[in-house]
Amino acid sequence: MSDETKRDLAGRRGVETSVYQPAEDSRLLSEAIGARGRGRLLEVGTGSGWVASQAVSVDAVSAVVASDVNPHACRAARERALEPRGSTESRRAEVPRFDVVRADLLAPFVDDAFDTVAFNPPYLPTDPDNEWDDWMERALSGGESGRELIDPFLDSVGRALAPDGVVLLLVSSLTGFDAVVEYAEARGFDREVVVEESYPFETLSVLALTAADGNGA
Ligand SMILES: C[S@@+](CC[C@H](N)C(=O)[O-])C[C@H]1O[C@@H](n2cnc3c(N)ncnc32)[C@H](O)[C@@H]1O
Repeated sequence: MSDETKRDLAGRRGVETSVYQPAEDSRLLSEAIGARGRGRLLEVGTGSGWVASQAVSVDAVSAVVASDVNPHACRAARERALEPRGSTESRRAEVPRFDVVRADLLAPFVDDAFDTVAFNPPYLPTDPDNEWDDWMERALSGGESGRELIDPFLDSVGRALAPDGVVLLLVSSLTGFDAVVEYAEARGFDREVVVEESYPFETLSVLALTAADGNGA
């Protein structure tokens, strides 16, 4: 693991120990949802639920489901789904503004369920000797390659995606942009960059992935 990655991990861990809090990558994914999200939307790995809560306000999005493997994240997201919205509401919602499901990637979702699937994955390349065995590690670490969650996500997302659906996937240059694109293309997706921003140690991009044959990947 590089010194920069160590600093990044340590810095993020210092802030929160069990639920990933919204950061620049969350904001970029939310922007991409504003540009390309539509219909029934699933946010995989919702963390605090902030991205899902923003997606609810996108006109083209009709319903939002947020999922995470971390039960603390699911609780935090559920709380956020009930929070008063903006400055106009003072009371908690009686009905959650989005549903929250504890799930490992796409496992529990039926075929063709979503028009949009968004994911800001754990992506930092991490030396196995330096990993921490806790929920924050699960939020940050993409294993040795940085792609240990991204590859299985790309293997399975086509099944839960409606035939003309779109995947919005956040990719860091630390993870290897070209390697992710190559893997996605091999799984039958065309790709386009929706938003991109550069920081001192990494460039973050959100890819829109659609089925190359127009009939589901
Ligand atoms: C980088 S954080 C992103 C959190 C949030 N989406 C955001 O953008 O602020 C990655 C999230 O993926 C979740 N995660 C890790 N492995 C997962 C899995 N196998 N299935 C579902 N979620 C997972 C983590 O618990 C964490 O909340």
